[in-house]
Amino acid sequence: MGQRQSRQLVLTMFMVGFGFHNDAWRHPSSRADEIGKLSIIRDMARSAEAAKLDAIFFADSYGTNGLRDGGYRGTSVYEPISVMGVLSGHTDKIGMIGTQSTSWNEPYTVARQLAGLDVLTGGRIGWNIVTSTRGNENVGREEMPLPELRYRRANEFVDVVQKLWDSWDADAVIDDRAGARWVDGARIRDVNHRGEFFAVRGPITIRRSPQEWPVLVQAGQSADGIELGSSYADIVYAVQPEQAAAIDFYAMYKDKVKNKGRDPEQVKILPGIMPVVGRTEREAQELADELADCIVTENGRSTLSNMLDVDVSDLDPGDKIPQERFVDGPQRVKRWYLFRELAKELTVHQLIVHVSRSLGHQFIIGTPATVADTMIDWFEARACDGFNFNPPSVPLGMDNMFQLLIPELQERGYFRQEYVGDTFRERSGLVVSDDDVRRVRARYAPCG
Ligand SMILES: Cc1cc2nc3c(=O)[nH]c(=O)nc-3n(C[C@H](O)[C@H](O)[C@H](O)COP(=O)(O)O)c2cc1C
Repeated sequence: MGQRQSRQLVLTMFMVGFGFHNDAWRHPSSRADEIGKLSIIRDMARSAEAAKLDAIFFADSYGTNGLRDGGYRGTSVYEPISVMGVLSGHTDKIGMIGTQSTSWNEPYTVARQLAGLDVLTGGRIGWNIVTSTRGNENVGREEMPLPELRYRRANEFVDVVQKLWDSWDADAVIDDRAGARWVDGARIRDVNHRGEFFAVRGPITIRRSPQEWPVLVQAGQSADGIELGSSYADIVYAVQPEQAAAIDFYAMYKDKVKNKGRDPEQVKILPGIMPVVGRTEREAQELADELADCIVTENGRSTLSNMLDVDVSDLDPGDKIPQERFVDGPQRVKRWYLFRELAKELTVHQLIVHVSRSLGHQFIIGTPATVADTMIDWFEARACDGFNFNPPSVPLGMDNMFQLLIPELQERGYFRQEYVGDTFRERSGLVVSDDDVRRVRARYAPCG
């Protein structure tokens, strides 16, 4: 058993019952018939908890994102608020991060839902803050707002939500039976917010959470996204498959956090990783080959077309996409542009494999020892503070990660053997400080 390292990995998992590797649900070992039902997601959550992961993560989108064309993993068959509510009764300690859009919701609603879950779970909830890139047609909007507008709204949205979470003091419930007062009204404040997008008086109707407020997660990589994340996020998800670039991104991000008066060690940067693990190199490679065999070329083609807004239906696998077919996407995100540049260099077949595997996240095949070597190397090089696992397949690829890789990381002293602390924040070293609370209150000096 290696010595326990003072700095520990933070590990979360993307909850996708199909497996993150496209078409992995076709593998004979999958439980595809249960996807969308409780049984499979409950078992995934329990396995992640048995592996002592910090949190499970539910993405979300307002739309089927290619579901009818075989693009499964991008569609939210579980709605985050409802699934976290149900899973709270089937798990005990693991954190649960749910995505809620700042583009299509009202802050008062999101603040209540997440605070409600956070209190009910004893402080186990996180919020993945997103600006939506799709779904306008489902909320009565003719057009997608441009990124700059979406981020302006997102900043104000998070401000309002955080202040609403802060509108009850921790000791607001006094339970004074003799004095006939359950709460002390002076310890519950109005927010009185009036901004460009929202007018919210507050306060919220939910008492303060044992972890103060949910863990804030953000994954934008554009300048505006980094601005938002460095102001608020406790956890930053990133697509960083190359170590050198990841080190630069990490240093840049932590600098920004520091310049905003926040503690950089309290902001955890977690790139995605898809580890295909086996007891031997051969076993791992066999699983990787089996998953590659599951890829349906036509599904890959339509995923590719959807992702790039380019028709590739008539192209041979060995062809490159003709330059003149590439279109501009003013409402698209930075990652979209990066992918478009890569797409100009690769053949259709290479692109299909690329989008079908880990969607640009680090993809690694190996034994527990070799995969752990890479993860620890990244961690020690300050390329990351941990990882968000993209399970290659469910349950097989996921179980291999938990049963083979996690014990190796524990053995080497980089990952906890038991949960320590009462809340998600405490367990993951993300405690809200008095300074954080002061910062929120300064932004909103409540009036009236
Ligand atoms: C791991 C990860 C998970 C994400 N999950 C979601 C999601 O559930 N819903 C969503 O709309 N966007 C999601 N995104 C997209 C980002 O949150 C962000 O909105 C997007 O990258 C646009 O911002 P940008 O232009 O600043 O990069 C995710 C990104 C990453 C890297």
